[in-house]
Amino acid sequence: MRIVQLDLADTQALRACHEVHKTASATDDPYQPPMSLPVFSVWVMNGWESNPGEVWYVPAEEAGEAVAWYRLGLPDLENRDRAFVLPVVRPSSRRRGIGRELLRHAADRAAANGRAVLASVSGQDSAGDAFAGSVGAKPGLVEARRALDLRKVPASRFARLRETAAAAAAGYTIVSWTGTTPGEYLGLVAAAFNALNDAPRDEGWEDDLWDAGRVRDRADRILRRTGVRGYSVAALHDATGEMAGLTQVRVDPDHPDWGYQGRTAVTRSHRGHRLGLLTKATMLGWLATAEPQIERIVTGNAESNEHMIAVNETLGYEVYGPGSQFCEMPVAAAAAV
Ligand SMILES: CC(C)(COP(=O)(O)OP(=O)(O)OC[C@H]1O[C@@H](n2cnc3c(N)ncnc32)[C@H](O)[C@@H]1OP(=O)(O)O)[C@@H](O)C(=O)NCCC(=O)NCCS
Repeated sequence: MRIVQLDLADTQALRACHEVHKTASATDDPYQPPMSLPVFSVWVMNGWESNPGEVWYVPAEEAGEAVAWYRLGLPDLENRDRAFVLPVVRPSSRRRGIGRELLRHAADRAAANGRAVLASVSGQDSAGDAFAGSVGAKPGLVEARRALDLRKVPASRFARLRETAAAAAAGYTIVSWTGTTPGEYLGLVAAAFNALNDAPRDEGWEDDLWDAGRVRDRADRILRRTGVRGYSVAALHDATGEMAGLTQVRVDPDHPDWGYQGRTAVTRSHRGHRLGLLTKATMLGWLATAEPQIERIVTGNAESNEHMIAVNETLGYEVYGPGSQFCEMPVAAAAAV
């Protein structure tokens, strides 16, 4: 089997990998649309966190098509002992050992990059989950998926919740922006991102440490390189100027009826003032006029993240389809499957 490194300038190969993503997504996760080609092109190389990575694919006999690919995320700022692998085989070519061969190849590439642990994620009870079990990966955290169906929830509910939350949040001012992070907020947003290090995660992962430069260079890559529209709502603490709370939503023009919830964080010293609810209810009121065509907003939370889930359920989010199962295994074991 020929496994070739994807050169992003090779638009035909990139499109072929995107086709595999689309057919796999329709089979493995019909609950959400696949990533559009522009989003896939940015994500497949650098993931959502703009970490360096490699993509390898298996060309098909049919010219211009691919059978399978994998992306290997190689974090360079923290978690440098780890690699994150996602192998995808087109449904018509499954159960022939291609997944295992890609995993062995990915393990060799991870070892060549000095990594000891290979982590991954798959849909709960999906083919990927069965595959992970069969190669001996250790299951970790489960992230439940929830969706807010805006066709079922009247916008007046968000206005009411915003008022209730605002009453508990004296001394904070709400600010908002579209697109990339404005220069004056880069450092404040970094501090808000760092608050997410308190969210539940599997053992062995180091904190992601953001600063203004990292936010500027890495956080908004999807917004800079695609037509994806970004919305941010933050609560500033009047007394200190700190960004106490932040929530972000993205809308892909290729799937305008979907909203994708990004980070939501309230920094530790400002928790307990309903800032999570305040920022999110404000966001939903804004989107009702800025993006009235959105039908559903999707989000994922670790099953143990009670506070975030409580906020989401207050807003009307409900469990939606299967969640995500994270897993990991030693690189040496993956090389020998
Ligand atoms: C997971 C995936 C890459 C597997 O690709 P594949 O080429 O079918 O994998 P293999 O043929 O090498 O399967 C290896 C073993 O995994 C297990 N397995 C794979 N798919 C399975 C399924 N649908 N049901 C039960 N076991 C399965 C079997 O034990 C299989 O060995 P066998 O066929 O001899 O019984 C493919 O299903 C896929 O692209 N899924 C969507 C993306 C994803 O979830 N990736 C994995 C993240 S961990």
